[in-house]
Amino acid sequence: MADLAATAGVALRPHVKSHKTALVARLQLEHGAVGLACAKLAEAEAVVDALAGGPDGDGGGNARDGRVGILLTSPLAGRPSAELAAAVRRTGGRLGVLCDVDVGLGRTGVVDPAGARAVARRITAAGPVLSFGGVQGYAGHLQHTAGRAARRDGARDAALRLTAVVDALEADGHEVRLRTGGGTGTSGLDVELGLLNELQPGSYVFMDREYRDALGDDPEGRFHQSLTVATTVVSANQTGFATVDAGLKAMATDTGPPVVVGAAEGVEYLFFGDEHGLVTDCPAGPRHRGDRLELVPPHCDPTVDRYDAIWLVRGDEVVGRADVVARGRSQ
Ligand SMILES: Cc1ncc(COP(=O)(O)O)c(C=O)c1O
Repeated sequence: MADLAATAGVALRPHVKSHKTALVARLQLEHGAVGLACAKLAEAEAVVDALAGGPDGDGGGNARDGRVGILLTSPLAGRPSAELAAAVRRTGGRLGVLCDVDVGLGRTGVVDPAGARAVARRITAAGPVLSFGGVQGYAGHLQHTAGRAARRDGARDAALRLTAVVDALEADGHEVRLRTGGGTGTSGLDVELGLLNELQPGSYVFMDREYRDALGDDPEGRFHQSLTVATTVVSANQTGFATVDAGLKAMATDTGPPVVVGAAEGVEYLFFGDEHGLVTDCPAGPRHRGDRLELVPPHCDPTVDRYDAIWLVRGDEVVGRADVVARGRSQ
């Protein structure tokens, strides 16, 4: 992803929400990321603290003298917003603010150029404590669309919406320095369309079953599957299947079942309760208690958020551990 961004001359600001670790964040910064994107204030606090904290079992430390630029990609309301405002006043700092644009997802953001104009006016009117930095248009509704042509059509439509906003803001005299957005599924297309000057993908560091299904052999699907959930057969009391110790609590299940790594075609994993899963036998024969399997999780981000640590493995050897320092930091 760093190569894609560098070759295209766009900035890369990887999204921390996928890995929630200082270790991966540090690697991303060392490989040229301009900063990090975070979904929530608490997530940003945990990762920045760990980056600044030096060796903490996670390899800590930060390539940039403890300073890292954070883009908070979700709007704030209520207490977090008040706390952030108070912190900026206390430190005498200046907060760069973007106008979030709804480019089709419908989740957040202004829905038309008039809304963007009003937001930019309010930011400018707030005085020196805020500065208008540009726009964000995250096309989350397109990331898992199967088929590159369909994703391209959607990305083009999203780019048109964002362009209309940028044009209106520039006509009002605002400098739209930053145009940020994009995810793993549209990364190559965003670069081809050329509107965004900063990409904020997250899942590419791990990939997952949902992305694998959607992206297949497309250029956006070239990232290796690096994240698996290790599980153990705890019962083989029936014929035809075995019971493993990874169930609903072991992974996010919003996008269906996981895939058994290296299994013969037709081998299936089925949910078997909160703590257990069912894995059908392979043609080679039944599994036995104690057998270890690996599962490709259906959806990486919320699966990682269920674990304190990610074990780093090379071949059959555990070579390290990345603490999921922002685990549960969802506020
Ligand atoms: C605002 C925003 N930006 C970027 C991303 C990263 O997208 P992906 O993990 O699909 O690369 C997300 C993911 O949900 C997001 O919500």
